[in-house]
Amino acid sequence: MNVLEVKNLRKCFDDNLVLDDLSLTVPDHTATVLIGASGSGKSTLLRCINLLDSIDDGSIYLDGREISDPGIDVDEVRRSLGMVFQSFNLFPHMSVLDNITLSPIRVHKISKAQARDEAMSLLRRFDLADKADQFPDRLSGGQQQRVAIIRSIAVKPRLLLLDEITSSLDPVLVNEVLSIVRDLKTEGMAMVLATHEMGFATQVADEVCFLKNGKIVERGPASQVISAPQHVDTQDFLQRVHEAGRL
Ligand SMILES: Nc1ncnc2c1ncn2[C@@H]1O[C@H](COP(=O)(O)OP(=O)(O)O)[C@@H](O)[C@H]1O
Ligand SMILES: [Mg+2]
Repeated sequence: MNVLEVKNLRKCFDDNLVLDDLSLTVPDHTATVLIGASGSGKSTLLRCINLLDSIDDGSIYLDGREISDPGIDVDEVRRSLGMVFQSFNLFPHMSVLDNITLSPIRVHKISKAQARDEAMSLLRRFDLADKADQFPDRLSGGQQQRVAIIRSIAVKPRLLLLDEITSSLDPVLVNEVLSIVRDLKTEGMAMVLATHEMGFATQVADEVCFLKNGKIVERGPASQVISAPQHVDTQDFLQRVHEAGRL
């Protein structure tokens, strides 16, 4: 069963074609990793999947249901998706625990007690239980991003969308964030993620897609796309990543 199918997606911003006939299939329990230079369309693709950006052509299916249909209930679709962005976007005026339980209580109508129990067990699991009552500004960037991931999975999404979640972090904090994602992958959470961390991409990806100008130029297992790229554009990109010291 495929969690996600993106078919012939086209997206323009004015006359700038940002996603060009792009297709993608994500089987359940797998991770698809998007790599590519800045501006290649990774964030736009994730935003289109989450219905944050409108699309110009093509279709998107979640669990076989077309979510790009104009008649779809957008809020209901978003309830099945978890998304974490590059910038830490926790609610600053709420404690860690309230950040995590807000959506389960308000949107998913779970009882307050149950939402708190589930949130605390996630916080314990990821070594953040002692931060439950703190406000986000008291946490390190890595801790904030771990809370953001916990918040996104507290609603038990069908698919997790992660957009360069370590790009704003101090290098020493990157691993504590990526290790949560590795854990979730091992548990079988389906995900699509954009990253510049090629080592991490190699560890979690079932499929790596290299994007350029809104097209998937090369796709396959990390052992091909990252370790032995076939396409000259992928080779050029990885060479530049390598020179920047991220490979
Ligand atoms: N809201 C927007 N309005 C206009 N152009 C945008 C907007 N968001 C992204 N773009 C353009 O879309 C292209 C792809 O951007 P993006 O999806 O952010 O790429 P990436 O995440 O791979 O860096 C870029 O040319 C960018 O300038
Ligand atoms: Mg981006």
